[in-house]
Amino acid sequence: MIVDERIGAYLALLNADGPPFCEAVRKYAEAEGVPIVRREAESLLKTLICIKKPRRILEIGTAVGYSALLMSECMPPGCEITTIESYHKRVICARDNIKKAGKEDVIKLLEGDALEILEKLEGEFDFIFMDAAKGQYAEFFRLCEPLCPQGGIVVCDNVLQEGTLVHSRYLINQRDRTIHSRMREFLQDITHREDFTTTILPVGDGMAVSVKMSPSCK
Ligand SMILES: C[S@@+](CC[C@H](N)C(=O)[O-])C[C@H]1O[C@@H](n2cnc3c(N)ncnc32)[C@H](O)[C@@H]1O
Repeated sequence: MIVDERIGAYLALLNADGPPFCEAVRKYAEAEGVPIVRREAESLLKTLICIKKPRRILEIGTAVGYSALLMSECMPPGCEITTIESYHKRVICARDNIKKAGKEDVIKLLEGDALEILEKLEGEFDFIFMDAAKGQYAEFFRLCEPLCPQGGIVVCDNVLQEGTLVHSRYLINQRDRTIHSRMREFLQDITHREDFTTTILPVGDGMAVSVKMSPSCK
């Protein structure tokens, strides 16, 4: 936990349960060990969507559809979500959850590797939620750039990696070192760009919120 454990537990309690259907999907995910957005992160996501009122949302990393369903509950009328997942077993489960929730007309699930799908996507997405392979964030972000209009928001989850991101790389397990250094490079990059302004929040497992600037903001 990034923040003090008691504060984290208290904040998690304050973040009220969502609609019953989402809660059932959350319960399933937790029981099956499927990683989904944390409670504190979920309330930030919902708040940002309520502020932004996007027209098209893009999500990278559907898992079983929890966050897509959650976002669909607070997005404005007319908004659509495109979500990408590569793990077939999860795609089947997510499709089923989306169908049961009656959201097939607003949530479009694309199966495959986001690195390939993002290259082919057309149009603009004014809200992008990145929640897939942490070692690929730089590449995802590069591919999302042309899809994101000025004023568009990109939210990246799990960027502080349980707080281990601030540890020296020598304290990190050998097998996690590549992700550790890639995430550090990614955060260094997105916090120093001229075309995006970014804040990194110690919410959940760490969330980076980037806004594509219009020339008048620079
Ligand atoms: C943390 S889970 C997503 C959780 C989901 N956003 C939620 O909160 O309900 C990350 C998902 O990204 C998927 N994933 C990882 N790398 C991917 C890639 N390159 N393309 C598509 N999906 C990917 C994984 O299979 C996994 O199901």
